[in-house]
Amino acid sequence: MGIKHIIKGIATYLPGMGRFTCRRTGGTDSARYCYSVWLRHLVMIHQAGLDTYPKVVAELGPGDSIGTGLAALLTGARKYYALDVVEYANTQANLNIFEELVSLFSERRPIPGRDEFPEITPQLTSCRFPHEILTDERLAETLVPSRIQEIRNAIINPDNADESTVKIRYFAPWNDSSVIKSESVDMIFSQAVLEHVEDLGGTYEALYRWLKGGGFMSHQIDLSSHGLSKHWNGHWAYSLLTWKLIKGNRPWLINREPYSTHRELIEKTGFDIVSELNADDVSGITRNSLATRFAHFTDDDFKTITAYVLARKKA
Ligand SMILES: C[S@@+](CC[C@H](N)C(=O)[O-])C[C@H]1O[C@@H](n2cnc3c(N)ncnc32)[C@H](O)[C@@H]1O
Repeated sequence: MGIKHIIKGIATYLPGMGRFTCRRTGGTDSARYCYSVWLRHLVMIHQAGLDTYPKVVAELGPGDSIGTGLAALLTGARKYYALDVVEYANTQANLNIFEELVSLFSERRPIPGRDEFPEITPQLTSCRFPHEILTDERLAETLVPSRIQEIRNAIINPDNADESTVKIRYFAPWNDSSVIKSESVDMIFSQAVLEHVEDLGGTYEALYRWLKGGGFMSHQIDLSSHGLSKHWNGHWAYSLLTWKLIKGNRPWLINREPYSTHRELIEKTGFDIVSELNADDVSGITRNSLATRFAHFTDDDFKTITAYVLARKKA
């Protein structure tokens, strides 16, 4: 029934109960986490044979810092757009993370694994530094001190209109797709975000509009209950009313959609799915505990706990 979660949800309506209303997101407050996430997306793109040197990159839901996007800039991107619903990131946190990222890339550190970040996915077959993608020649160009200073300047002064330098734009909240020019982005990524997005159809359409023809998107989606049940899949047992109470007044929680909803929307929007890497879990609630709304789940819906999807807009 989730009484404890219902009480927390109702408490979000009370003044002064901000600690229940998503004040921090976790994850991107650590440079090593951001480094691990960006390298995981790069490795997945490389394995699929797509361009690992995107120039214009956008991220949905960066959270506590824009560190993962800063990692993208340090490996060669010239423009980075961050889109969130709440303004979690701030200049000082971004600068701190940035300095540590510079060292991690300069030292070609291995990709931090699940021993350090137990929930991080997609799971890679190797956590060694991807020298075949980030060659010494490439990093010699992207980590040149003048460029590092350009990125630092862009963190401090994101509205600098000088088009010749690195650009960072942070939209929080972002409300409509006009914030980014159509057909202007090479790559869009997200980590543990799409399971939170309320308007999934509208969001996939916006991502499609922003990408250039041949551009692609790389998403990691965590389909678990995010601690809102003692079972990883217990969120699918709650009725609509119970869920409404649990969500309370939070600006975002989880949308409870299974991976097949993402898949259908991605294809309906016009993308071609290039690769997928999902993980299953057969523990937790049984099918007969599913709420009516989820009774139609396929066996795959029911067991998929995390999904990684790479999809491309036709050229
Ligand atoms: C669990 S956090 C993940 C943050 C970060 N990507 C990470 O890996 O730690 C989820 C993030 O998604 C954001 N979010 C929720 N709905 C969103 C939406 N419709 N558009 C953009 N971001 C959204 C939240 O504000 C939050 O920053």
